[in-house]
Amino acid sequence: MSESWTQDSWKKYPAQQQPEWPDPKELDLACQRLASYPPLVFAGEARSLMDRLAQVTRGEAFLLQGGDCAESFNEFTANAIRDKLKVLLQMAVILTHGLGKPIIKVGRIAGQFAKPRSSPMETKDGVSLPSFRGESVNDSSFSQEARQPDPTRMERAYFQSASTLNLLRAFTSGGFADLKKVHTWNQDFVAASLQGQRYSKLADQLSENLRFMEVLGINSANTPILREIEYYTSHEALIMEYESALTRKDSLTGDYYDCSAHMLWIGDRTRQVNGAHVEFLRGVKNPVGVKIGPDISVEDVLTLCSRLNPENIPGRLTLIGRFGHARISDCLPRIIKACQAEGFAIVWSCDPMHGNTYGTPSGYKTRSIKHILSELTQFFAIHKAEGSRPGGVHFELTGGNVTECVGGSQEVLEEHLEHRYHTTCDPRLNAAQSLDVAFLVAETLRQMG
Ligand code: PEP
Ligand code: CO
Repeated sequence: MSESWTQDSWKKYPAQQQPEWPDPKELDLACQRLASYPPLVFAGEARSLMDRLAQVTRGEAFLLQGGDCAESFNEFTANAIRDKLKVLLQMAVILTHGLGKPIIKVGRIAGQFAKPRSSPMETKDGVSLPSFRGESVNDSSFSQEARQPDPTRMERAYFQSASTLNLLRAFTSGGFADLKKVHTWNQDFVAASLQGQRYSKLADQLSENLRFMEVLGINSANTPILREIEYYTSHEALIMEYESALTRKDSLTGDYYDCSAHMLWIGDRTRQVNGAHVEFLRGVKNPVGVKIGPDISVEDVLTLCSRLNPENIPGRLTLIGRFGHARISDCLPRIIKACQAEGFAIVWSCDPMHGNTYGTPSGYKTRSIKHILSELTQFFAIHKAEGSRPGGVHFELTGGNVTECVGGSQEVLEEHLEHRYHTTCDPRLNAAQSLDVAFLVAETLRQMG
């Protein structure tokens, strides 16, 4: 890997999982327009997130990252955005209470449109077409026209991201996230469930504490931290043209930032140490993540750490393990030991979703809460045994009452999946299941001290 990095140096390296854009001229024009549009986030915000993640490496904060597997052009409404925020806020309340430390909230939102696929082609009834690669590339319906990659879709994704981020900024600073509203984040369909009631009790307790503080003169009018929250965006940096077109030189520091989101991660399928994704992300100064699955070698983990974080800056690199409940105990301890031996500062996060996907006999892709909880508890136990810090969790979830994952206190069964299976890609936790998981994480960590 060459020492000199430029916004385009990734072009000299093989890039996996890229669309076959039909017309290079159209692609070039779309990229030129993207490059001329305003940044979605500012370098200073990415630096603030980096500071927060540095706190995570010191055990002073905990990372909660979550949202859709893939955002969609169709499910683009204020209510959907609001409900996703509500769930994350509820989970953060549960975790703050259980862990006694600040929760760093990072959405998989406002840019999470592109998907890596296990096969470049999909075949149905003898017809083979390019696979659906996320709405920023092509359309999911099964026709030649729909599956043709279209670079103007990247611009549509950009504008949807801008609009989503605008609403999120309004919600998180305009009073919606005021702790006084803690009860209103419980949606009706969740409030009736066991975990919804549990959340209500916690919210009662919190409201009482706030009333006590108000008596002392501390309220949301004079204490902004009670009414505003820090909320960051993230997505998989997959489509190289999109990410490099949104990269800007920061006028303050002269450093480059990928201004499509605060945090970017490299997926498990594109993390080749000599690949284009690693080359590109090593040069931007945002906090970056890498998904690591059961097939990664310890040697590759070490190479990724030194390429992506050569100065070993705390908060720069998050390793997001997604091994699966059956593999994590084989894979993770070796990786932690090797990184400890090198003295690497790492935010250790657990994605208990992607290693636990399976197909039901009726053809649904799903995940069981049982497996998700098992991977999470093992993740915490392994870190405890190795004397390192579990820094965060990463989920695919939504605010809606979907039936995509099985299990949880409401007991979604495999035969219920067909009722409300709405995801554009992988199965997500619904709002009630998300609370279930948050309570478990809080309890497990509290018990472990
Ligand atoms: C994802 O996060 O949606 C994803 C594809 O994950 P991974 O790279 O871990 O497979
Ligand atoms: Co996914």
